[in-house]
Amino acid sequence: MGHAERPYVICHMLPSVDGRIVFRDWNLKHATSEYEKAAATFGADAWIIGRISMEPYAGKARVPRRAGRARMAREDFIAPHDATSYAIAVDPSGKLRWETNDIDGEHVIAILTESVSDRYLAFLQSKGVSYLFGGKSRIDLRRVLRKLRARFGIRTLLLEGGGKINGSFLAADLIDELSILLGPVADGSIGTPSLFDVDDRRAPARNLKLISMKKRSGGILWLRYKVRR
Ligand SMILES: NC(=O)c1ccc[n+]([C@@H]2O[C@H](COP(=O)([O-])OP(=O)(O)OC[C@H]3O[C@@H](n4cnc5c(N)ncnc54)[C@H](OP(=O)(O)O)[C@@H]3O)[C@@H](O)[C@H]2O)c1
Repeated sequence: MGHAERPYVICHMLPSVDGRIVFRDWNLKHATSEYEKAAATFGADAWIIGRISMEPYAGKARVPRRAGRARMAREDFIAPHDATSYAIAVDPSGKLRWETNDIDGEHVIAILTESVSDRYLAFLQSKGVSYLFGGKSRIDLRRVLRKLRARFGIRTLLLEGGGKINGSFLAADLIDELSILLGPVADGSIGTPSLFDVDDRRAPARNLKLISMKKRSGGILWLRYKVRR
């Protein structure tokens, strides 16, 4: 699939030197600012993250019961919005309880499967959250990327974690570039999310080509790679 059909995908992350990604007591003063500064250099139209990583941004709104009985069509919904950039969550069974349809001026898009309830679809519509279906019971990421390009004109997409969503993009060979801000911390916790957590053991490892390395504030190393094809 050429890039006219789908966005260029840059996986942008801040892991520990041992590839863990959950900031416990890392105490890295410059982490957030360096992460945001580096992200801004890409001029991306959107960022996408997994349902678990999106929880703290979405909120805890109540999903009301539905009055009507008519079944809601499983059709993509584009809510009215003025934003030109997008915050996207992969939420296959509709667990995120959005309080608004905007994160710092970016319009929210939920990526769902058709198995979500009518009640949840009505809730998203009432909140003005756009949604796209990525498949019947499983998400087909290629299809999702094509829709994001066609429906919202997204050309450059930052894939910003966590490990599970990154792993599924890696396994589907949908990452073009990797942008790593390596934090000067050794974490060591077994069983916590890492940069790429791939479910499918048959998924091949991907070789990378180093394209740049820069020292940033607080001993952070910014490494950029292209994924070899
Ligand atoms: N250091 C960093 O740069 C950084 C960046 C981002 C996040 N994080 C950290 O990462 C941690 C979360 O990582 P995580 O790996 O546990 O979760 P995650 O990748 O944020 O979310 C995983 C969930 O998203 C949905 N999902 C993702 N890909 C999918 C696919 N291909 N098909 C269907 N559903 C998909 C599933 O939701 P359901 O469970 O609803 O099915 C899945 O369980 C958090 O602690 C966060 O703070 C760190």
